[in-house]
Amino acid sequence: MKKLQLPFIFLILTALFAGCYYDSNEALFGKPDTNTVVCDTTVTNFVAQVKPILQSNCYSCHANAYAAGSGSGIKLENYADVKTYADNGKLMGSILHTSSYPMPKNGGSLSACDIKIIKSWITRGTLNN
Ligand code: HEC
Repeated sequence: MKKLQLPFIFLILTALFAGCYYDSNEALFGKPDTNTVVCDTTVTNFVAQVKPILQSNCYSCHANAYAAGSGSGIKLENYADVKTYADNGKLMGSILHTSSYPMPKNGGSLSACDIKIIKSWITRGTLNN
């Protein structure tokens, strides 16, 4: 009986510590991924991948209808507008938090995967696909 006690206590302690360890994904990696299936950057499509990320995280201020009121006039709904900010570096600067305007404003940071998708869309030539 006595022999059994030590491993047993050890097991309980392990379970306690393992059970108490909790960090939300958001705290560790930024916001949840918008493209939840896989972090697929093999194609990076504007309509299917980039736009949904902007829609979920940016359109509360940068949709065409809200831009004037809450987005400082910056529209991120149409391809041509997004391309403008991709080309002048402001889009990546804002989501990487390397510019003076970290985005999403007052909303933490995009997930690593979402950032990777936008980055790879730009690297592949900001295609209207
Ligand atoms: C709560 C409203 C809000 C949200 C959400 C938001 N923005 Fe902004 N954004 C602003 C405002 C306001 C500005 C003008 C600069 C400032 O006041 O911070 C701005 C500026 C910008 C700029 C211009 C930065 C520069 O260097 O001039 C870019 C690019 C941008 N936002 C992209 C985004 C992206 C991408 C997202 C989503 C990931 C996003 N924003 C989410 C409000 C928002």
